[in-house]
Amino acid sequence: MTQRKIPAATLMQLLGPWTGRGPAYVNLARAIQHLVLDGRLPLAAQLPSERTLAAASGFGRNTIKAAYDVLQDDGFLVLRPGVRRVVTLPPLATTPGVPLPPLSHPHLIDFAAAALPAPEGLIHEAFMHALTALPTYLPTHGYTPLGLPVLRSAVAARYRARGLPTTPEQIVITFGAQHAFSLIVRLVTSPGDRVLVDQPTYPHALDALRAASCRIVPVALTPGGWDVEGLAAAARQTVPRLAYLIPDFHNPTGHLMPDAVRSEVTRLLHQTRTLIVVDETLAELALAVPVSAPFAVHDRHATVVSIGSMSKSFWGGLRLGWIRAPRDLAERLGAARASVDLGTPVLEQLAGAWLLRDPDPLLGRRRKQLRDQRDVLVEYLGQQLPEWTYRLPEGGLSLWVTLPQPVGPALVAQASRFGLRLTAGERFAHDGLLARQLRLPFTQPVAELREGVTRLARLFREVVGQDVLLDDPGNATRLEV
Ligand SMILES: Cc1ncc(COP(=O)(O)O)c(C=O)c1O
Repeated sequence: MTQRKIPAATLMQLLGPWTGRGPAYVNLARAIQHLVLDGRLPLAAQLPSERTLAAASGFGRNTIKAAYDVLQDDGFLVLRPGVRRVVTLPPLATTPGVPLPPLSHPHLIDFAAAALPAPEGLIHEAFMHALTALPTYLPTHGYTPLGLPVLRSAVAARYRARGLPTTPEQIVITFGAQHAFSLIVRLVTSPGDRVLVDQPTYPHALDALRAASCRIVPVALTPGGWDVEGLAAAARQTVPRLAYLIPDFHNPTGHLMPDAVRSEVTRLLHQTRTLIVVDETLAELALAVPVSAPFAVHDRHATVVSIGSMSKSFWGGLRLGWIRAPRDLAERLGAARASVDLGTPVLEQLAGAWLLRDPDPLLGRRRKQLRDQRDVLVEYLGQQLPEWTYRLPEGGLSLWVTLPQPVGPALVAQASRFGLRLTAGERFAHDGLLARQLRLPFTQPVAELREGVTRLARLFREVVGQDVLLDDPGNATRLEV
């Protein structure tokens, strides 16, 4: 397998200002440890040699060696024969605290799922229209592996309305975006193929890649979004078969990929003949910016396949999504799905087509609701957990919160005692911990958000009160959560 190498200059850039009070080697070890815990240094990557890092940092080789020794003692580095020091995680770091007995709570507040309930009345109305249209289809056999023409046309029309010429023949209707991605992975990859993904990314996409025995190549997002140089280096070093990107209100970080980055990413992944799969599930949930043109407007070489879904804009229970691909690939995808399923139910597709004939009024209401709920969540977090930090996302369904200490796993382990469900940051990482991160959806009604933040604050105070923190440099690498 191609071993990813972290050049000394890249490591220095990732580290930012890391010096401070206390011995330099301890500060350096602690800063590298945070990069590992935050998923910004990929596991199994090689760190630079002591000599090159000493030259790049201006510190002596002994300092670098001492820092690497600390990391090695604490299980964040291993020595592999013939290679340099390799990033890893200590077994202790993934061990949650011992669960305590549950406290009594009238109901659970679910911060684990980022999805809205169905819009009042509309889904019912869509199915009433679908039932009326159904008799036309009853004399046919009803198998639609590529999708009903009426829905394929409605999806294609939506792409055209957003500025991307698209024909119905380019669309394959699926059971949601997750099914769409799994179909693409099954058709396009072979076991052992490398697939480039953002780190963090959507957990079930990682699951689909693991199920297909792909080798996952994570490229860390920076606090500002996509790291084009990092992406280029990973693509050059690993020549991935596929890249899976979420350019619009990225799940979980909320980042929106700027147009210039979209064209650059398309250009550079064309050089390695990498098929780019863009997941646009959240694209229409723009809260503070206009909805972007579909990513594929930057595609000059037919190397972009887009997936979309009605789950987040309309309702997850519809189980309707799609793939937009070059026509021949769309046909091959339709044929390939026969080993798993023979098409999406006609009634659901008719309901979907009815909903898509005029989606803007509902989308407008959805955006306003999400904006209001996002602002409420932010307000309560500011009041009750001011030490939690996040970037205000311009769209999507959640905040990606950074905790002041790596206590995410402990919060998740203890959440049910406080009547909460939380998803661990590590679900969004490939072989990483992301122990300082939590995704907090703002898809709950305002009253639930208020109560949820109150419970979160009590949970957090209890957990940090119990645990040994990493703030003391003399105790830099003990993680007791
Ligand atoms: C980025 C992303 N892709 C795919 C999905 C799955 O969507 P679907 O319900 O359409 O399968 C989700 C749902 O959370 C998502 O956030």
